[in-house]
Amino acid sequence: SPATIKNICCIGAGYVGGPTMAVIADRCPSIQVKVVDINQSRINAWNSSDLTKLPVYEPGLDLVINRARHRNLHFSIEVEKAISEADMVFISVNTPTKTKGLGAGKASDLKWVEACARQVANFAKGHTIVVEKSTLPVRTAEVIKTILEAAQSSLDRDLNSPTFEVLSNPEFLAEGSAIHDLEEPDRVLIGGENSQAINSLAWIYQHWVPEEKILRTNVWSSELAKLTANAFLAQRISSINSIGALCEATGADVREVARAIGTDSRIGSKFLDAGPGFGGSCFKKDILNLVYLSRYFGLPEVADFWEGVVDLNTWHQHRISRLVVKKLFGTLSGKRVAMLGFAFKANTNDTRESSAINIAKDLLDEGAQLSIHDPKVDPKQIAVDLDLPESKSFVSKEFGSNEKLGEGIWCFAKDIADACSFADAVLILTEWHQYSQIDWVEISKKMRNPAWVFDARSIVDSEKVFDAGLQFWRVGDGSERISN
Ligand code: UDX
Ligand code: UDX
Ligand code: ADP
Repeated sequence: SPATIKNICCIGAGYVGGPTMAVIADRCPSIQVKVVDINQSRINAWNSSDLTKLPVYEPGLDLVINRARHRNLHFSIEVEKAISEADMVFISVNTPTKTKGLGAGKASDLKWVEACARQVANFAKGHTIVVEKSTLPVRTAEVIKTILEAAQSSLDRDLNSPTFEVLSNPEFLAEGSAIHDLEEPDRVLIGGENSQAINSLAWIYQHWVPEEKILRTNVWSSELAKLTANAFLAQRISSINSIGALCEATGADVREVARAIGTDSRIGSKFLDAGPGFGGSCFKKDILNLVYLSRYFGLPEVADFWEGVVDLNTWHQHRISRLVVKKLFGTLSGKRVAMLGFAFKANTNDTRESSAINIAKDLLDEGAQLSIHDPKVDPKQIAVDLDLPESKSFVSKEFGSNEKLGEGIWCFAKDIADACSFADAVLILTEWHQYSQIDWVEISKKMRNPAWVFDARSIVDSEKVFDAGLQFWRVGDGSERISN
């Protein structure tokens, strides 16, 4: 019966595993939830009594953690022990895109998933339901199943040998709204063959999700639905960004176009914000998976169609860099650009695939001094992403001293005003609320004229920028007062 789930183990304490298990534990007090990871410092951070030190920043996560932790939610590195005690094991480890070998640059590297499956095979006791929760390519459940079955047949077939069921339960949470998305999901998708196993997992979600929102499919549909959902969402961003470029060229305003098309109920109004291009750990990876699968199955036209979504996104990121250079008279050498926002979207500290990375690299190549601000991103992460250490000092007292401070360097700014000091341009890349509240009159006094504001997120009040005497560019806006 479904009620037999007493112990859950989740392998992988990252952006997906951590918040998901926290909500499950919060909503299911009768279930003991253990989240395990090989990364000791990450586990320490999850156990930190200072809730601002959690390894993942998500609005509301601290409250959920505070309620459930040490009650029925535990974080540890004892992977094997947790597996052996669990009735249900979630696999929530990372699946980076392969960097070499077959499918390099496109296919996901399943080595971590494989390692997990082997661990589960070795240490599970009794009947164990294995749930794939990572953002995984199609056929992963099959891989897991094959490994578990191989292990099973090699074990002594006594009464104690473990038995397995594999389910697919893709995650649809978006970062920055993870807790809301988990607590009030549009749907929960469970793919599997065995209805008893499906019911056991459904039973967990039924603690807080209405039954009609729990969708049951076969494993393939469930896995492919995950990739397709992300591909469709990313496609909307590339679509609106492509139209934005056309708007800039023709005198239209992409925000007006988006509003006009969004009222068509067949199109819908969400996910139509032009920006600096999509980032995040999922969109690109999932589309490239789709591309790889399509080619593998002899569907090159399908592969090309989806690959275009990623290509457009990359082009769009470089288009923004080129535009900044052009406006600043074709050169950034010795010029300072304040980059506001480094996370791939607001309300997260995650920088994976952030458009800010490509754009920052372009501007550094052009010789800029970047003064980077982000309220949640750790400067150490920026150094890793840019593959360039932070410069020690660069807030110069005089403009004349700029040259000596070097080109193609970056510093982390502790606040917005600091970032904008002596800057020739401000480039807004993440839609943090505080960037929409900037006092441009004050900021303009700190900048070097002719000073520019480049708003790649459309969050700034253009009138206030003009009133401060600043030049203004906004993504997708070709209307008259905006200079293009
Ligand atoms: C996405 C999916 O939304 C989620 O369902 C899935 O489980 C994981 O991938 P996430 O990557 O966290 O979530 O963020 P999302 O809100 O989808 O944004 C992705 C990127 O698109 C961000 O860089 C965001 O800034 C950008 N975006 C989004 C836009 O540029 N415009 C929009 O209108 C929406
Ligand atoms: C379309 C637009 O819908 C309408 O707003 C515009 O003013 C004119 O163009 P129309 O061409 O009459 O209208 O028909 P529509 O219902 O949009 O269908 C267009 C084609 O898409 C048809 O061949 C239809 O069979 C196909 N279609 C539509 C699908 O294959 N699947 C769908 O889910 C929807
Ligand atoms: P996601 O966004 O998919 O959650 P993350 O990279 O944030 O990805 O988290 C994945 C986590 O999985 C990491 O903390 C990593 O240390 C952990 N992990 C990877 N492989 C294993 C493994 N074999 N056993 C335990 N944890 C693992």
